[in-house]
Amino acid sequence: MKTLIVGIGALGGIVAARLRAVGVPVRLATRNAESAARLKASGLRVTGVGGSLTVEAPEVTALDEYSTRDTFDLIVLATKANDAIEVAPRLVELLGPGGTLLPIQNGGVPKMLADRLGGDRVLGGLSNLGATMTAPGVYEQRNAGHLLIGEVAGGESQRAERVRQWLARGVEVRVTPNIRGAVWSKLLLNCSVTTLGAIAGRTMRDYIASEEGRELFDRTYDEALSVALSSGARPERMIVDPVPPDWNGRSVPSEAHDAWLCQILNSYGDVKPSMLQDFERGRITEIEFINGYVVNLGRQFGVPTPANAAVVETVRSITRRKISPDPKLLGRILQASRAGARRK
Ligand SMILES: NC(=O)c1ccc[n+]([C@@H]2O[C@H](COP(=O)([O-])OP(=O)(O)OC[C@H]3O[C@@H](n4cnc5c(N)ncnc54)[C@H](OP(=O)(O)O)[C@@H]3O)[C@@H](O)[C@H]2O)c1
Repeated sequence: MKTLIVGIGALGGIVAARLRAVGVPVRLATRNAESAARLKASGLRVTGVGGSLTVEAPEVTALDEYSTRDTFDLIVLATKANDAIEVAPRLVELLGPGGTLLPIQNGGVPKMLADRLGGDRVLGGLSNLGATMTAPGVYEQRNAGHLLIGEVAGGESQRAERVRQWLARGVEVRVTPNIRGAVWSKLLLNCSVTTLGAIAGRTMRDYIASEEGRELFDRTYDEALSVALSSGARPERMIVDPVPPDWNGRSVPSEAHDAWLCQILNSYGDVKPSMLQDFERGRITEIEFINGYVVNLGRQFGVPTPANAAVVETVRSITRRKISPDPKLLGRILQASRAGARRK
């Protein structure tokens, strides 16, 4: 399976290095020639969970240098979401007959790309593998996670199994007949755990201790879950059952709900939100594909999403450096979302 990995950042770098280390001949594409030259000189080095390794990276080139004369059976798309949407149409041109594009971004990217480019070209993917890039070509694997892949339209397929077997030589890969549901399960937590933590500049355990934090968590989660269910997705169990105990379209305070929340806290309560790292590095966030995706789909399916809309606006303001992450912002978002809910 002739394979190209596009985006040799934290995730793409680890997948590329682990595949090359076991002799799988993958080619690599960076954003530009300078990044390619740097990686060619440094090679790829991985530490952390799953073991350390160093490999050379001779077959790394700027994406623009690939041409339609040189096509691939599999292209793993490992850029951030904004870049993925921009670059995907060009990548489809680099696929040979029957070739597959595998996006592994968080949020709505696989479904958006399958809708735009055709489900026959796009296989859905997501990553439970945690990775950081400490310098170009230097990566740390932070957990024993896996890639999860499957047909965006649902069900099983020979192609998903073929791709799994191929990539599983280097990294753990699982196939699911319900990738849309799995994407939503992750999205539900990203919308509330990650984004609210980033806005507050705190971990979930910190921000959920305040009344505003707790209420806003419930509101963003309830809206996102309502949108998921209205769109026909069936979120799967991930850490917790995606539907909170006694949920009636809204979260209901109870001991069972506290225990449900506690399970999320046990897994994610002390993790520094990845979006907060984006803020700190002055990088563009994936908000439009996380809470923004919920707001857009909510509009489409007639589900009000005032809390998520206020969250998106706040993140945009932080990115534009008009405001900084602060726990007080959660109270302001809550007021805006209550006012938005009253107007509906
Ligand atoms: N890292 C994790 O633990 C993790 C876990 C789960 C999901 N994810 C998801 O996986 C995706 C990738 O995350 P990441 O952490 O690996 O991001 P990252 O470290 O920023 O890596 C993305 C890489 O893509 C490159 N890139 C951007 N545009 C490109 C283009 N047109 N052609 C070729 N390369 C291009 C970037 O280069 P520049 O630096 O030049 O922009 C960067 O090296 C995100 O959607 C993220 O949400 C990540």
